[in-house]
Amino acid sequence: MNIRGDSGSGKTTTAREVRRRYGRGCALIELDQFRRVVLREHGGLDAVAPGFIGMSARYLLSTGYHAIVEGILRTRSYGTVLRQPIAEHPGPSHVYYLDVSFEEAIRRHHNRAEPIPVSAEEMRGRYVALDTLGVPAEHVIPETSTFEQTVATILDTSGLAGMAPATPCPTRCARCAQKRTEDRNAMPATTGRHDEDGPDDVYVQDVAVHPAHRRRRSVAGALVSSVATQARLWGCHRLWFTCAPGNTPAIATRRRLGLRNLPRNYTVDGIQVIADCKGPGRDRPVFELDLPATGPVAEGAHT
Ligand SMILES: CC(C)(COP(=O)(O)OP(=O)(O)OC[C@H]1O[C@@H](n2cnc3c(N)ncnc32)[C@H](O)[C@@H]1OP(=O)(O)O)[C@@H](O)C(=O)NCCC(=O)NCCS
Repeated sequence: MNIRGDSGSGKTTTAREVRRRYGRGCALIELDQFRRVVLREHGGLDAVAPGFIGMSARYLLSTGYHAIVEGILRTRSYGTVLRQPIAEHPGPSHVYYLDVSFEEAIRRHHNRAEPIPVSAEEMRGRYVALDTLGVPAEHVIPETSTFEQTVATILDTSGLAGMAPATPCPTRCARCAQKRTEDRNAMPATTGRHDEDGPDDVYVQDVAVHPAHRRRRSVAGALVSSVATQARLWGCHRLWFTCAPGNTPAIATRRRLGLRNLPRNYTVDGIQVIADCKGPGRDRPVFELDLPATGPVAEGAHT
């Protein structure tokens, strides 16, 4: 895939975001990195950068990577090395040109988060309007397209959004396999106990949302709601919960869900606690929730 455009067209940010959303298995060749950082080279007829970039793209494609080549990549200097992999590659190729007028390029240049030391005069001298490659199905994306629209267009039209990688990461690598296992283990979870001791109620134990799933997004509420749905199917009328007396997030969640704190032996920060509730020395506040036969389960809980 080529993502090209003049200075200020947003090609670098766009290419990085496309690659980020795709994930591992997609290489990103940035012209500025290859030419300025790796080679530390100016342009010119016998520059090494075009051949280096073309060869790198071909090698990456041969190893199963998707490859994005991003940069100004003037047709005059890079046309041949970009068209060659497109012609030779057995898989699909996609070419995008982010088209911005000179006036818009200047406006964006002045608003850059990371300014670059190029004057407007220098930009005018270098500006080339609509410097497309002239290959079939080249997409010209107009300056009216927002960043979000541009990224979505590229992911959709290239098919990258639904394409599987064929690279060591993330398909065959041991670290990626471990990460997948950790992610699975980080799933939010809760258990509900329903037995003959209390056929009318369910004890909800260990509601837990891993920090990786970003707390404070109503996940605990959704878990409680799903337990409530199951409890209603069992014909139960009540859920009940405990937690450690100082567990502020747990207590806050229970309050937010509208659970009733049962009055008992003593209070901690306004919360009623039952002494020896879960065995000697294991004092716990107890909360309960009545289950209506129909309708929403708890204030704030997702259904
Ligand atoms: C307690 C826990 C399950 C809450 O999970 P969560 O998905 O972040 O909770 P929710 O997003 O559903 O929170 C619902 C409400 O509870 C309150 N709340 C939750 N965590 C809170 C916190 N740390 N501080 C203050 N209020 C909190 C808020 O009112 C919140 O609504 P809001 O974000 O709209 O203000 C989570 O913090 C956790 O897994 N903790 C570790 C395990 C644990 O101690 N479990 C409880 C004992 S079994």
